[in-house]
Amino acid sequence: PNVALCVTIQDFEAAAKAVLPNKTWVYASSSAASGLSLQSNLDDWSRINFRPRIMRSVSSLNPTRPILGHPGSQPFFVSAMGTLGNAHPGAEPLLVRGATRKGLHTVVSTATSKPLEEIMEAHLDEQRQLGNQSPSKLAFQLYVPVDRNLARSLIRRVKAAGYHSLWITVDTSTLGKRTADRYLQAQEALDQGTRETTREAAADNAFGPAFGGRPVPGYLDPGLSWEDLEWITEEWNGPIVLKGIQTVEDVKLAVQHGVQGVLLSNHGGRQIHSAPSALMTLLETRTYYSEAFDMLDIYVDGGLRDGADVLKALCLGATAVGVGRPYFYAMAAYGIEGVEKCTDILAEEVEITMKILGVSSLDQLGPDMVNASRLLNE
Ligand code: FNR
Repeated sequence: PNVALCVTIQDFEAAAKAVLPNKTWVYASSSAASGLSLQSNLDDWSRINFRPRIMRSVSSLNPTRPILGHPGSQPFFVSAMGTLGNAHPGAEPLLVRGATRKGLHTVVSTATSKPLEEIMEAHLDEQRQLGNQSPSKLAFQLYVPVDRNLARSLIRRVKAAGYHSLWITVDTSTLGKRTADRYLQAQEALDQGTRETTREAAADNAFGPAFGGRPVPGYLDPGLSWEDLEWITEEWNGPIVLKGIQTVEDVKLAVQHGVQGVLLSNHGGRQIHSAPSALMTLLETRTYYSEAFDMLDIYVDGGLRDGADVLKALCLGATAVGVGRPYFYAMAAYGIEGVEKCTDILAEEVEITMKILGVSSLDQLGPDMVNASRLLNE
């Protein structure tokens, strides 16, 4: 359909499925095991409802929320996604151009189709064309490689290119078992008369081509531990966010290790089977460690599909939220126009919801504006 006919960000999914090669569609849409982790992400947001207030004068609105101190146009950002060249030939540069036009922050994946410097150049070029008026900034998501020399040189490249923060993905000691990808690989192997692809080959495949170069075999480090934060912090010397925290215990450890933020996330339901949704981890953190909200930034991602979901997360203390697949699908179907439209749709929903909820600024959101009892009592 014409992009003008997309009314919700869910609409991009069917549009992308219609144009993408099956393999890419499967890669983007797949999730761990039976899909339970993905389904919880989608379902849990719909199980809390608002407690809207009336007659609170909402004639002027401020929907902005800084990310690690950097102001942006919206309380949401684009989550890290690998190999966007599969979604659209414009790949990551196209995504960041679209986001920059809308003043949106983007987290750029380690597993990009284009070199990280080229992605930053596209962002800066777009900034220049906009007269440097866009508040948009780029963060870098780090998969820590086994090879520490490679890790250090990658971190130095990220720093030199000007990314403002490092989002270390900590939920990927190995790649989750993604059922739909496995069926496809098994079928391909059968068709080619080779043996079924190994788990390792599947993982390497999912990372290629890492940082715009050749795939790096055996890249993921299952040995990653809290101690590694020491040398990473020293090498990076800037803000760090841990991406993929799923318990309050690990939020505590993150605070103890002095990072600037955590991203509560189950990786879009792609890693562990039966993961808690980010919303459950957010509620757990509120219940058992509410001090955390004053000590570091707490981001969430996974299954946010409406501006209302964004505001629910903020009511419960999230600094801002990440959105993944809808951007993949939007750029696959409509290129840069899709990226902009996806942002416009969410931004409008945030605005509408703020007004009907009775808040003119995001600072007025609080736990009293949602009812999460249906989730907590189950
Ligand atoms: C991801 N995600 C991800 N995370 C990460 O840390 N590094 C990466 O390279 C990728 N790559 C990636 C590719 C694709 C196609 C998807 C869908 C996801 C996870 C991503 O950052 C985020 O946690 C989820 O996508 C959020 O869930 P939703 O919004 O997709 O439901």
